[in-house]
Amino acid sequence: MTINLSAAFNKNEDFFLGLIRRQQVPTHLVSPRGPSGSQRYYGPGIGYAAAMLLTGQVQVEQSGRTLRIRFPSSGKAGGLKTVASTDMGAGRLWSGDSLDSASAPWVLALTEAVVLGQHPETLAALRTLAGLTGAPVAIAALKPLPSADVSVREALLRLSDHAYYELKAKLDASEITKGAVNLSGLQPVPPSALMKQLLGTRETPTAAASSPLARLRRLTRRGGAALLVGPPGTFKTETVKRLVLETGAAVVKMRGAPGIEDRDFIGAITPGVNGPEWVDGPLARAFVLAKSRPTVLQIDEILRYHAEHLQVLVGAMDELSYEDARAVLAPALDQLADAERPAFLQATLPDPGARYYMLDLPTGEAIFCPKPHLVWALTTNMGEDHLQTAQTLDSALLSRIDLVIDYDRPDVETVMPIYEAVAGDARLAQLGYELEDLTYAIAADAEGLLVRPMDARKTIALLKEARACVEDGLSLRDAVLEAAFVTAVPHCCPRDARGLIEEASRAGLLKRIAEEVLPAA
Ligand SMILES: Nc1ncnc2c1ncn2[C@@H]1O[C@H](COP(=O)(O)OP(=O)(O)OP(=O)(O)O)[C@@H](O)[C@H]1O
Ligand SMILES: [Mg+2]
Repeated sequence: MTINLSAAFNKNEDFFLGLIRRQQVPTHLVSPRGPSGSQRYYGPGIGYAAAMLLTGQVQVEQSGRTLRIRFPSSGKAGGLKTVASTDMGAGRLWSGDSLDSASAPWVLALTEAVVLGQHPETLAALRTLAGLTGAPVAIAALKPLPSADVSVREALLRLSDHAYYELKAKLDASEITKGAVNLSGLQPVPPSALMKQLLGTRETPTAAASSPLARLRRLTRRGGAALLVGPPGTFKTETVKRLVLETGAAVVKMRGAPGIEDRDFIGAITPGVNGPEWVDGPLARAFVLAKSRPTVLQIDEILRYHAEHLQVLVGAMDELSYEDARAVLAPALDQLADAERPAFLQATLPDPGARYYMLDLPTGEAIFCPKPHLVWALTTNMGEDHLQTAQTLDSALLSRIDLVIDYDRPDVETVMPIYEAVAGDARLAQLGYELEDLTYAIAADAEGLLVRPMDARKTIALLKEARACVEDGLSLRDAVLEAAFVTAVPHCCPRDARGLIEEASRAGLLKRIAEEVLPAA
């Protein structure tokens, strides 16, 4: 055994109330792995490691199956300790300068359990504990729980014994050994993701199946069009980006604007170095890519196109059977020598079982692509009123859209990891979310104090500015107020006839932020 686990048991219990060093673990809580009939004792070092995870004080970075972990030392000197671990063939390699300390091996084992699903008995015992205490839980709230709540005390004793014997078995079998760990490419694991894993909350299959991304993913298997409708900053464009990254599809992007003409869609003949030449527009580029590989054609702000120009899209979104497509090709085939026809047909319509999209070019040619290769991802804002959107979008276009995916305010699970990443600080991210919440509450009031609530994009801007203010030496509270002044206030508050922000609204919003979001900051 290369790592000495006894320090956990020699440490005094100075975190939890209601537990003491060498407290006996009752028989009904012991691990079946331990020697039967023996006395079992509680290890305060193991309890401490669980407390660090439950209170959100463990920082984790991950690259595949490699972890680096920082946590507050349980020793008198304090400070942060760092440990790391990785896969190596049959078992795992652990590193850190304090692996024989009272808490380090346990922080490592518990975090491996949570993040990588290692040590299943330890993980089950830890999740039972987390289910009782909640996670994250404030330090002051967690400390007295074992004395107040016998089920929490028992869950800690049980975790201690199960974690000890599960880890000991792995060390005895040399499934875990000490050695240098290669730490390249580490990415922080957002605290909220860690808490979710700790609680063992997984998306239910039905919830996962009805996420916008899952809906688009299914569409990519058969090809077709989806319209993503919702207010600004609800991650419509982001969903399309993730789809592209995840599926490895090619992507072509277009963005609606009033002055856009058909030639900007399809392409045009333009003067080139060797005389006039045809240059593909985005629509033609997407069709050419989709001839040979899955392609996403992303058209943002679809409502900003003039309806008459959308007719080009309507035409291109029509699908043809193989026979129909072949009939369209007949004149071109007739002009070829008999021997050339099969190769031409094979190159243009490779799959007799597929249906095809067809794009007519002004040059008289047509580009065909198999329908399963092309996904149309159209996005639009909702305007003041949802009905308006449907009315403005041409009914011929709407009828060619397979899926309409509505976006509302994104839920906290979606935005929190992003907020934490841009804020660089879980507490600031939380304040940003609460501030956003507050603007939703005020905007929903009939008093008309705010013209609109924050959206995710605005909250991200606020968090970035607040973070910069903190770097300039402002307190967290002042930083959020300063950032709100230039992000939330101009976005949410009405303006008067001269275009100035209404003072009463500004003062009211800042006051409520100070009183309702920032009292603890
Ligand atoms: N992982 C991320 N990290 C940082 N910012 C992100 C991340 N994901 C999304 N964002 C930002 O969130 C904001 C909202 O996302 P997105 O652009 O998808 O919204 P949208 O619904 O398309 O809005 P609109 O209707 O205004 O186009 C964007 O500013 C985007 O840059
Ligand atoms: Mg967008």
